[in-house]
Amino acid sequence: MTAEGNGELHGLPPSYARVSLAVVTSGREANLLGNIHGGEIMKLADSTAGAVAARHSGGPAVTAAVDEVAFLQPVHVGDIVRTFSQVNWAGRSSMEIGVRVEAQPWNDPSTTSLHVASAYFVFVAIDGAGRPRAIPGVVPESPAEVRRHREAEIRRAHRLARKAEIDSARRTD
Ligand SMILES: CC(C)(COP(=O)(O)OP(=O)(O)OC[C@H]1O[C@@H](n2cnc3c(N)ncnc32)[C@H](O)[C@@H]1OP(=O)(O)O)[C@@H](O)C(=O)NCCC(=O)NCCS
Repeated sequence: MTAEGNGELHGLPPSYARVSLAVVTSGREANLLGNIHGGEIMKLADSTAGAVAARHSGGPAVTAAVDEVAFLQPVHVGDIVRTFSQVNWAGRSSMEIGVRVEAQPWNDPSTTSLHVASAYFVFVAIDGAGRPRAIPGVVPESPAEVRRHREAEIRRAHRLARKAEIDSARRTD
């Protein structure tokens, strides 16, 4: 498997920039139903993905798009929320970062940590003037990393095709 990204930069494995964060949730983050607001989960996922993007690209990177987010289970006040994040794919200046979110009651380690959300972020590395800059490619190592890399390419192809189709439809309006 060859690294993509910028040919002049050495590719990096996803393990190089991998990041996990954990927080104990509180009533301040609750929604009207008494569960943790989805936006709070998104913010934590975005922060985690941002750290991965900065580490992989070796400098500042901004969120360009959220490709897909799935909320699978409610998160309750008092849960420990843990994120697990790595770079799945890198282009010339953009990266897809995957984030898995798990939750477990803060006071009961005997319970299974539940998979509560997943998201795919696109980050773009920028230079001092805010312009896209070249980044290292991704060299997937494990079978799971190879799978994530392949699936990220599928998401990117769909995103580009959708954008081209919408642009074309607008031109005919
Ligand atoms: C992201 C940003 C730097 C892109 O700048 P741009 O001039 O449009 O960049 P380009 O068109 O040259 O694209 C650069 C790369 O970003 C990717 N990209 C740009 N917009 C994208 C989008 N909406 N979704 C996915 N990828 C995108 C391009 O595919 C390209 O990838 P590649 O270099 O790996 O091939 C610019 O749009 C920006 O600064 N946005 C604001 C970001 C921000 O403030 N985020 C925080 C929001 S709260």
